[in-house]
Amino acid sequence: MVIHSAEFIASFPNVQSCPKDGLPEFAFIGRSNVGKSSLLNLLTGRKSLAKVSSTPGKTQLLNYFLINKKWYLVDLPGYGYARLSKEKIKGLANMVNGYFSQRKSLTCAFVLIDANLPPTKIDLTFIEELGSQKVPLALIFTKADKSGKMTVEKNIAAMMEALSATWPVLPSHIVTSSEKRLGRDEVMAAIETLI
Ligand code: GTP
Ligand code: MG
Repeated sequence: MVIHSAEFIASFPNVQSCPKDGLPEFAFIGRSNVGKSSLLNLLTGRKSLAKVSSTPGKTQLLNYFLINKKWYLVDLPGYGYARLSKEKIKGLANMVNGYFSQRKSLTCAFVLIDANLPPTKIDLTFIEELGSQKVPLALIFTKADKSGKMTVEKNIAAMMEALSATWPVLPSHIVTSSEKRLGRDEVMAAIETLI
């Protein structure tokens, strides 16, 4: 897919205020610091469309980007960031839950997972929750450049094994590295087939 235009539209504080034009949209979510903003910049080919943070937990709103005037890319706040106040974490969780339970134009949620770690409870719990709400989802493994291929493959296999306990059909997955610019075409191809 060629990106002709990628514009930041706005950041919304709740699902009620999100765009009402019904264009298809693709949400990116994952543990804080997993590399969401970096991946969005890789996908759109714009260096700093989404803010890459050295301090985790910077994304605290529903951030909308309009791509080729046809579909939205949505950068969601990360989960599992402990250094925010309890109240703030609860507020973010409510916002994200509201988004997933009510957003009708959500075509697919891409859940980002650090390819360098064995399955974490927080990722598994989040994926199970989305699954139980019947949110269409795919997995994106990030930062694959940081470990050897064997380690990445082992971590992915372990994640699929853990999910297979509750998922009759496993979600599809793509391996990426924003650093090495890997996996971009695969993610874009997935989006293109779904639009
Ligand atoms: P929050 O919005 O704060 O939750 O973080 P995020 O998920 O948007 O992550 P972000 O893209 O800001 O990246 C977090 C850190 O990981 C930054 O220091 C990035 O430079 C680094 N990073 C992101 N992608 C990659 C990657 O593919 N490889 C490596 N080695 N580092 C990466
Ligand atoms: Mg971010």
